[in-house]
Amino acid sequence: MSRIAYVNGRYVPQRDASVNIEDRGYQFADGVYEVIYVHGGRLIDEDRHLDRLERSLRELRIAQPMHREALRCVLREVAARNRVTDGIVYMQVTRGVAKRDHAFPAAWTPPSLVITSRRIPPFPAEADAWTVHAITQPDIRWSRVDIKSVGLLPNVLAKQAAREQGAGEAILFDRNGMVTEGSSTNVWIVDAKGVLRTRHLDNAILAGCTRGAVIALMADAGMTFEECAFSLDELRAAQEVFITSATSFVRAITAVDGATIGDGTPGPVTSAIFDLFSRHVRGDRRNAA
Ligand code: PDD
Repeated sequence: MSRIAYVNGRYVPQRDASVNIEDRGYQFADGVYEVIYVHGGRLIDEDRHLDRLERSLRELRIAQPMHREALRCVLREVAARNRVTDGIVYMQVTRGVAKRDHAFPAAWTPPSLVITSRRIPPFPAEADAWTVHAITQPDIRWSRVDIKSVGLLPNVLAKQAAREQGAGEAILFDRNGMVTEGSSTNVWIVDAKGVLRTRHLDNAILAGCTRGAVIALMADAGMTFEECAFSLDELRAAQEVFITSATSFVRAITAVDGATIGDGTPGPVTSAIFDLFSRHVRGDRRNAA
């Protein structure tokens, strides 16, 4: 079955899909994106992703490509046309096509919208079966990574460094030795004193939708945590480390830079949050955000 992509108003076979070489996404990374996890045909945390997309666009003064309700329909249609009930939808909005010039093109230039969808293997039912090793890397990104821009070169280099060292994620740290986030995930620790922590939100990290959903689920479950930055040393001394994202789910980090975290298996807090988020994804309304 050939995959179908949505490109600026048309559903086209993905192998034939193309954008103009003067698209500003291609020339300047002048665009934003979202990745939404699809489970059982439902778009998980859809509103959080659409809120964030709209915010990213507003921050960059890129026009909204279509009304939110229309976008919801197109996202579902792309998933359906690709027969994706478990997988992801990817959407990207750029400032459109114009003769190359750094400054914004004319206000009437329509934004470009591309949406694709593909299957991904289902996440395991147990936290123990979903672990990964991480390395640490300096965070060399720009100072507005709260905007989900397609300019991901530092993230690409960090992830590649992880891959080359046999790890699955790179945890980034700033000039002060404080952890920001993963190359494509948010990072959480249970610190040496047993306190669950994740970095506070500001311009130095992306406000993950999975992070937001987990925080809402924990509030419902009466679990406490601190929104507070932690250092590389605290990361290394942590009892538990895990990451969250639309495509990582809740995933235990069992080693950092080759050193084992805890006993090398997901700890009790990670497992509890994995279970909370699993129920949320399966649509158990008792724990819905
Ligand atoms: N990445 N931080 C960064 C830098 C990210 O790229 C992502 C998501 C997250 C987690 O956000 P969310 O929980 O909304 O997925 C945090 C996506 C999955 C990607 O680039 O493929």
